[in-house]
Amino acid sequence: MSTHVELPSYREQAPEVAARFARLQQRPVALEVSGLTKKFETPRGVVTALSDVSFSVHKRELMCVIGPSGCGKSTLVRILAGLETATAGELKVYGEPVSGPGPDRGMVFQGYTLFPWLSVKENVMFGPKMAGKSSFTAEREAREWIDLVGLAKFENSYPHQLSGGMKQRVAIARALANQPRVLFMDEPFGALDAQTRCKMQSYLLDIWKNVDITIVFITHDLDEAVFLSDRILVLDANPGRVAEIVEVPVPRPRSEQQLFDPTFMATRKHIDHMMHPPGQEQKEAPVLRMAVADPDVI
Ligand SMILES: Nc1ncnc2c1ncn2[C@@H]1O[C@H](COP(=O)(O)OP(=O)(O)O)[C@@H](O)[C@H]1O
Ligand SMILES: [Mg+2]
Repeated sequence: MSTHVELPSYREQAPEVAARFARLQQRPVALEVSGLTKKFETPRGVVTALSDVSFSVHKRELMCVIGPSGCGKSTLVRILAGLETATAGELKVYGEPVSGPGPDRGMVFQGYTLFPWLSVKENVMFGPKMAGKSSFTAEREAREWIDLVGLAKFENSYPHQLSGGMKQRVAIARALANQPRVLFMDEPFGALDAQTRCKMQSYLLDIWKNVDITIVFITHDLDEAVFLSDRILVLDANPGRVAEIVEVPVPRPRSEQQLFDPTFMATRKHIDHMMHPPGQEQKEAPVLRMAVADPDVI
């Protein structure tokens, strides 16, 4: 038996959501990407990871980038963070062309990248101290960021004493302590269990509410993308291209209850169809016969 629920179009926006997008479009452009192309020379020939990718992210927007594995998400974010050079194209942060890494852009990766020999507080102080701040100022600021991510009680703990979710909260505090204008996050919750991941998504929205920051968040998780985003940049694979930029019609503030709202489900379904077009399911499922099944074994 299947229950068929008629979903609204993901393009339908309640008046307050439409008004929010109208305001968002009025905000300054924090990040402008034009014609970004990246080709890798490999022993098997040239791989075009990204082809003519263009989009803009507005000040204090939270944009997720989603697409199938290998579509160039990490390559894109590494170029935007200045960790990789583009073959062609241009990147502007608040109208200024940038190349190479800079303190205007911060990054949080999936892997735990804290310095294991430094305490939580020392990890967060590291950037401000490198930027020339006194230990006193760096410590005071670090405490504020650690407080913001809810880890005040753990400021003297070491990374190995923390859970995966806590480590990623420190990584967020550490990135924010450098006061970037744009924060890039590459599947930052990908290694966490499902429950912790959901909590981290809510934490991130709380942090984002309290900090003047624009976020570009890479994920391949549909629920995560819809839950977090103002807009979702959907990438096609081979080569990575912009398939669509979707305005998420789910009102803010977001809550887990919305996962079952028709607008949430409609958006999720649309993106799912874009990533896995009907009729293009995996044609050759791998067959591994461990034993000949008896007809009674079901
Ligand atoms: N350093 C590299 N050298 C050669 N090919 C690469 C390199 N990095 C990524 N690629 C290729 O570029 C494509 C996009 O990779 P990636 O950005 O990691 O995708 P995603 O993060 O979406 O899974 C893949 O085909 C990958 O094999
Ligand atoms: Mg990746």
